[in-house]
Amino acid sequence: MSEFAELKFRDKVYQLPVVIGTENEIAVDISKLRAQSGLITLDDGYGNTGSCISEITYIDGDKGILRYRGYPIEELAEKSSFVETAYMVMLGELPTNSQLAEFRAKLAEHEFLHESLRHHFEGFSSDAHPMAILSAMINAMGCFQPAMIEPEDDDHFLDSAARLISKVRTIAAAAYKQSIGHPMIYPRSDLPYTSNFLHMMFSKPNNRYEPTPEVVKALNQFLILHADHEQNCSTSTVRMVGSSQANLYASISSGVCALWGHLHGGANQAVIQMLLEIHESGMSVDQFIEKVKNKDANMRLMGFGHRVYKNYDPRARYLKSACDSVLQNLGVKSPLLDIARELEERALNDSYFVERKLYPNVDFYSGIILRAIGIPLNMFTVMFAIGRIPGWIAHWRENHLNPNGRIHRPRQVYNGQTVRSYIPMEER
Ligand code: CMC
Repeated sequence: MSEFAELKFRDKVYQLPVVIGTENEIAVDISKLRAQSGLITLDDGYGNTGSCISEITYIDGDKGILRYRGYPIEELAEKSSFVETAYMVMLGELPTNSQLAEFRAKLAEHEFLHESLRHHFEGFSSDAHPMAILSAMINAMGCFQPAMIEPEDDDHFLDSAARLISKVRTIAAAAYKQSIGHPMIYPRSDLPYTSNFLHMMFSKPNNRYEPTPEVVKALNQFLILHADHEQNCSTSTVRMVGSSQANLYASISSGVCALWGHLHGGANQAVIQMLLEIHESGMSVDQFIEKVKNKDANMRLMGFGHRVYKNYDPRARYLKSACDSVLQNLGVKSPLLDIARELEERALNDSYFVERKLYPNVDFYSGIILRAIGIPLNMFTVMFAIGRIPGWIAHWRENHLNPNGRIHRPRQVYNGQTVRSYIPMEER
């Protein structure tokens, strides 16, 4: 039997349908509220607004749970590969052997950039941030496949998805090579996805780079843990842009821009900058924490806090222990990891952080792993973006296939000047 919530306003009672998700999340459907009562809902920053019904990712922020299509991320990070996880996130089920082989073949087929697209790199300044390059290049990809991708056709959709996932890796590595003035390294179809990326990043025309299995594993885990995170800022952006029927490339390119900010994906770069600053200035962890608590120049403990997690972010928990084994396997010593651990311990025992339920998020430890495997600082957020592409694609598709889907168009409460007459220049 359908359930309803009641809203009493002035002298009338309105019945609002209740929607219950498969994990018993309860929502009040207010879509008809304005038509019935004239009321809209107000929720700055969408802190308590469900923007869609989705089957892709489940988060329990209080318990610290994250699952893609029902699969716990810890299990995927242990047992799956990024390519397999990407397929599952986008299509809903783990691939069979032949489906996976076919998808890998598609990734190999699409790994090259069109020569005209490659020439775009020459137009960027050498100090351009790779996120700006990534966003511009993804949008430019739309010029080479102008027809609207058909999200309802599995084969066509998967081909377009593979094209994007594959080329993004080539673009990201080329953006890095551009930033250091080195020639672009062509992809190698014989290498799996992650090794191929590392090859394009670190090989030189006169020196082939061979990653160790530990580095490949660490990068795979990093990408898997970033593959989706339901309605965050960048994913909501992709869905918002896609809701206007904009093509996949334009929508994903907007997602990259949204991810760039330091309150979102840019935090992984900001965390390392913060740790370096503490290390190089000789400031103690206590002094740094005091500055954050005093909100000195709006300082924040980067990599801490989350809109949804009011508990330890499960990705951070996994990456924290991965840090230890990656650094040990690679024989890397990191004073930054020591500082991070001390910051965490200090913050988790401080009432400022405890009362606000601020715990480490995914970005707190991920940068230490990326640094250990040799990824330069300005590429950290690009790495996040490479990981998140399957999630964005899955949400873009879900949005398109939603039979009740409409253009996203929030309302507002207007609080500006009421009507007034134009004042001629000479009277102002
Ligand atoms: N350091 C210090 N204080 C903090 C922090 C922090 N990292 N995060 C939140 N607060 C305080 C904030 O000042 C506010 O205090 P008060 O009640 O005194 O005004 C209170 O906690 C609530 O913060 P909020 O800004 O209202 O929380 P939010 O849900 O809007 O923001 C957040 C979430 C992730 C943007 C925020 O916690 C933050 O800025 N964290 C640091 C940046 C970061 O690590 N971002 C990565 C997020 S996870 C990965 C991703 O999304 O890409």
